[in-house]
Amino acid sequence: ANLTRIAITPGDGIGPEVIGEAVRCLEALRSKHNLALEWTRFPWPSHAWHEQHGQCMPEDALEQLKDYDAILLGALGDPGPLDDPDRYLLPDSISLAPLLDMRKGFDQWVCERPARLLPGARQYLADARAKDIDMLVIRENSEGEYVSQGGRLRKGTPDEVATQMEIFTRRATDRIIRYGFEQARQRAELRDREGRARTFPTLDGKQLASQVCLITKRNALRHWGDMYTEAFEAIARDYPDVATHHELVDAACMKFVQSPWAFDVVVASNLQGDILTDLAAVLSGGMGVAPSCNLNPDDPHMPSMFEPTHGSAPDIAGQGVADPTAMLFTTARMLEWLGRNDPALADAGKELYDAVAADLAEHGGNHRDTSEVGESVCRRLGNG
Ligand code: IPM
Ligand code: MN
Repeated sequence: ANLTRIAITPGDGIGPEVIGEAVRCLEALRSKHNLALEWTRFPWPSHAWHEQHGQCMPEDALEQLKDYDAILLGALGDPGPLDDPDRYLLPDSISLAPLLDMRKGFDQWVCERPARLLPGARQYLADARAKDIDMLVIRENSEGEYVSQGGRLRKGTPDEVATQMEIFTRRATDRIIRYGFEQARQRAELRDREGRARTFPTLDGKQLASQVCLITKRNALRHWGDMYTEAFEAIARDYPDVATHHELVDAACMKFVQSPWAFDVVVASNLQGDILTDLAAVLSGGMGVAPSCNLNPDDPHMPSMFEPTHGSAPDIAGQGVADPTAMLFTTARMLEWLGRNDPALADAGKELYDAVAADLAEHGGNHRDTSEVGESVCRRLGNG
């Protein structure tokens, strides 16, 4: 197989700590299976880089990253050293910009955030049915509320006006909704193979093997809501085997807590998906276990980016206590994705996923240091 090359950007806070465990597992898998895989580190800690260069990443960061097959990212966002009186002076918008630049620059228009409550993960909801939570939230990752257009008029005066535009195109809407239906089908097939088929009701009384739920706020935001709904209904006709469902985002928040086990695939806009996925992460055991990825499914020459849902967690950074489980699940997903070019990587991804899940099932309830989790997963890989 051709050599697969990964760019590793550990980033800030707990980023380098959890990345360390991901690299440990990658090394174990590479030597065990003789994988044609290599990686390069780009240590661009935003605060230090900003101090030296006035920016959180090199000017040509995207240029440096573009020829890699994937980017594995720890976390970005750094309020600065604890003893620095200017702590927090570095505006979040600057330190997070590289993340949004990468998503945009590499056209990673899909953000996949699975929320499955696995054995061993903390169950926050008291209802016993919560153990069946298994949903995939698909966040539109290229436009919507994140187009960053608008501005501030009469800044600083009592008459100030801030405008923040949202832009939704039919093209980006169609592709994300179609992606959702394709995922629903694949999930149904997988569940079938693994003997855990589910059913979802349709309005006309049928039971189907998967479901896509579209999130809007079309009772208030009409133009966008109507276009999303029309696109959804048109595309749904190509997927008679998939049940459809529609929730307003506020009601969806309520139902995520009330009956999250009733959801399968959920398609949401950029900001609403961002908000819903923090909630979904908690439903599936918390930020410590929630993986995420930013995919460009069309262009094999553009790297997709793999980062956990969690951030740099400055409050626990430097203590070696961050849970690397989310990062390890994210790394497994990266290998699976790269398996499109090299099936050995897909197998390694599955092996890593199974090892992390088994580790979680056995030790999930215990307090363990970052490296203990990584070591324990690696031991499993060794025995595998
Ligand atoms: C996320 C984060 C980012 C987002 C921030 C850091 C810009 O919250 O990946 O969910 O809003 O997309
Ligand atoms: Mn977020």
